[in-house]
Amino acid sequence: MILKNFVVFEGIDGSGTSTQIELLKKRKESERFFFTAEPTSLPTGKFLRSILKGEFELSPITTAYLFAADRAEHLYSKNPQNLGIKALCQNGKIVISDRYVFSSLAYQSVSTGEDLPKLLNSTFPLPELLFFFKIDPKISLQRVDSRGQREIYEKADFLEKTEERYQNLVDEYTKKEPQMKIITLDATKSKDKVEKDIWNSLSTLL
Ligand code: TMP
Repeated sequence: MILKNFVVFEGIDGSGTSTQIELLKKRKESERFFFTAEPTSLPTGKFLRSILKGEFELSPITTAYLFAADRAEHLYSKNPQNLGIKALCQNGKIVISDRYVFSSLAYQSVSTGEDLPKLLNSTFPLPELLFFFKIDPKISLQRVDSRGQREIYEKADFLEKTEERYQNLVDEYTKKEPQMKIITLDATKSKDKVEKDIWNSLSTLL
C-alpha cells in the first residue's frame, strides 16, 4: 500500500539526507511539510541511539525488532502530542522522513539476513516518493569522520554491503512497486545541486 503525501530520504551514513532536510526547513514552503526521522525521539528511538553509539550491545535480531517497533509507533501513534505519520498524511501534511523501512531492509539484513527485516516490515505502507542518496562509502565515511565519532555501522565493509543492498532494493521496488516513485540522487554532487534535484520532484506534490 502507498501512503499518499509521504516522502522518504534514504542512503548510507554520510550520504547527506539530514543536511538536505535542514536545507528544506529553510524554504518558504516549509510550513507545508512535517519533518521527521528514524530512529524517532520516542523512548524506543532513544534506546536505538544508545545501541548505535555502542553503549549497549544487543543481538542483531533484537535490534531489527526494535527498529520495527519504533517505526510502528512513528507511523500509527494517535497521541495528539506526537501524532503518527499516517494521521499527519491523512490530515493533508506532506511528511518527510529521514529514513524508513528501506534502512532496515538495507542495514539490518547485513547482519540478520534478508528474511527477518522483510517479515518485520512487510505490513508498513510505502511512501509516495523515495529519494535514494547514492554514494561511494569511501566518500561518505570521509564525511562521517570529519564530524566526529563513528557509530556501530560506520565501517567501510559494512557500508559497502549496505550500499549494495540499497541499490538492489531500488531495482527490486522499481519493478514491483511502480506506484512508488523512486528518485536516485548523485549524493557526491554539491549540496545546492542535490537540493535542486530534490526540489524538482518534491515541488510537484505541493
Ligand atoms: P542517522 O541518524 O545519521 O541517519 O543514523 C541512523 C543510523 O541508524 C544509521 O546508521 C542507519 C541506522 N538505521 C538502521 O540500521 N535501521 C533502521 O531501520 C534505521 C531507521 C536506521
